[in-house]
Amino acid sequence: MAISTQAHLRVPFLDLVAQYNDVKPELDAIIAEIFATGAYVLGKHNSWLEENVAALHGVDHAIAVNSGTDALRIAMQACGLGCGDEVITTAFTFVATIETAIQLGVKPVFVDIEPVAFQIDVSKIEAAITPNTKAILPIHLFGQMCEMEKIHAIAKKHNLMVLEDSAQAILSQREGVYAGNGSIASGISFYVTKNLGAAGDGGMILTNDPEVARRSKSLRVHGMGRERYYYDEIGYTSRLSEIQAAVLRVKLGKLQQWTERRQQIADRYNEAFAKSHVTPPVTLPGNNHTWHQYTVRTDRRDHLQAHLQERNIDSMIYYPVPLHYHEPYRFLGCEPGQLPETERACLEVLSLPVHQHMTDAQVDAVIAAVKAF
Ligand SMILES: Cc1ncc(COP(=O)(O)O)c(C=O)c1O
Repeated sequence: MAISTQAHLRVPFLDLVAQYNDVKPELDAIIAEIFATGAYVLGKHNSWLEENVAALHGVDHAIAVNSGTDALRIAMQACGLGCGDEVITTAFTFVATIETAIQLGVKPVFVDIEPVAFQIDVSKIEAAITPNTKAILPIHLFGQMCEMEKIHAIAKKHNLMVLEDSAQAILSQREGVYAGNGSIASGISFYVTKNLGAAGDGGMILTNDPEVARRSKSLRVHGMGRERYYYDEIGYTSRLSEIQAAVLRVKLGKLQQWTERRQQIADRYNEAFAKSHVTPPVTLPGNNHTWHQYTVRTDRRDHLQAHLQERNIDSMIYYPVPLHYHEPYRFLGCEPGQLPETERACLEVLSLPVHQHMTDAQVDAVIAAVKAF
């Protein structure tokens, strides 16, 4: 029998209006000042954001760019990856992880994920290494870091670079080390829906390597060198606008508090779902999870999503189709059936609302609905 949605408290997946209201006076003032001064491009808010995110993550250099996608593409190019190279990664990620590599002529080589935390299965990396392999590209999916110590050990043994897709991992740590620190480069996304989200697109490259930083800065402005209109290499137009940098600057002041609220909600879910018909997510020992997504799994995922929708609760499937199934990526030669854990995850995962502006009543509503499933 269909249940009336009228009776149920609405639980949106995100609440961007509540997020705006949380920072409104400061945000309105900073944006008004930009319009009043006309300083729109690579100004003081970009510099402030770069310095402060670098300090937060403990890296030497942060380079703000126009999106997380550009952060990955520019980082790869700045690290010297190019035609004929291979990077080892997974097919259980957002498409930008591999699209960027392919656009540079780099071949992504997929290994399966492990079924517990949806991360790259470290035990399968070595078998995927070929003479063309130049880097390992782990994705800190849903806000928790991969087993970086194991990945770095493999990279060291085979003389490979490690680039981190930290798009979903601002403030995430493993054994006290922040995402992006310890690898040659890392890309963060500031897309609207991220834990630290702009009013549109934005991203950042983190690196401790001065040459990668220099090249990234040049690549974001067409490969321009020290002198204006003289070019060192073929680059992009990928500046972060001052308006977005200012939005991010204001929100960064709240990020710790917002992340703690996400962690509180996740703790409540974990406790409540331990005895339920869904499998709650697992935090790997040593990780400080920032809960970009709270993702459960069940072999009746579509029923669970319909059950929640009937109760006015939004949910999302990250990701419904493994990347190697998509037509544009079939040329990579990875056949359906080759990545069984990736393929199973795509059928079983469901992400629940976990944003910092959820009320306790909304959290209770999600818990009651999932337990009733
Ligand atoms: C894992 C992952 N990689 C890369 C990106 C690309 O970031 P953006 O959307 O900012 O270009 C995203 C963002 O959705 C992501 O989730």
